[in-house]
Amino acid sequence: MTDESPGVSLPLPPDSVIEAEKRAAAAAAAALAQDGMCVGLGTGSTVAYLLAELANRGLRDMRYASSSPATTHAATALGLSVESLDAFGDALDLAIDGADQIDPNAWLIKGGGAAHTREKILASAARRFVVIASAAKAVQALRPPVPVEILRFGSSWTLHALAPAELRKCPPSPDGNLIGDYLGAIEDPAALSARLSATTGLVEHGLFPPQLVSDILIAGPQGVSHRRGAKAPV
Ligand code: A5P
Repeated sequence: MTDESPGVSLPLPPDSVIEAEKRAAAAAAAALAQDGMCVGLGTGSTVAYLLAELANRGLRDMRYASSSPATTHAATALGLSVESLDAFGDALDLAIDGADQIDPNAWLIKGGGAAHTREKILASAARRFVVIASAAKAVQALRPPVPVEILRFGSSWTLHALAPAELRKCPPSPDGNLIGDYLGAIEDPAALSARLSATTGLVEHGLFPPQLVSDILIAGPQGVSHRRGAKAPV
């Protein structure tokens, strides 16, 4: 049933609600940036809102590092100055990124957009790593798939060692490696993270530990909630 009478507001369709939440989380994170900061930019649809918010703030003397060609392209189009991460010396002041899943202990799954290796490097290089998401990304327990980036050489063997796992039908990573997914259950994220990391041929996986995360900004019906991760902002 639809009501088209003037002045009657209908519930937003779920997609619109989620987009509004992504924008709200992105705006809250953009407010943490200050003039002169070096900021790492993640990848994805939530980060797209972040780029617009950062551009709108009119900050001065900002320097940005990007996790993907898509983010570099979008950021540059908005007038943000993107440089190689290697130009920043030892650390970024801040990195901001979305997530595919966020559990109650601040474990994340990332890599739906196949950029998790570079995203994890930016998160590690930043003194403060802020995660932004709509409430749809908050889960009680992480569930597969876990994205994996693997070297082309010996990829069949590596996939076998990671089993159950499969290659994704998508372009290679920005660094020319193959993208796949670990498909097994995630009973213990720390144990699984250690097992995946110990597999020869794996470049990086999409499990991000709480030790990488400083803040989680989740936007839901009640506004933007702020949780702390285990990585204290410096
Ligand atoms: C990219 O590789 C991913 O890690 C994204 O950051 C993550 O999938 C979140 O993307 P959305 O903001 O589009 O949901």
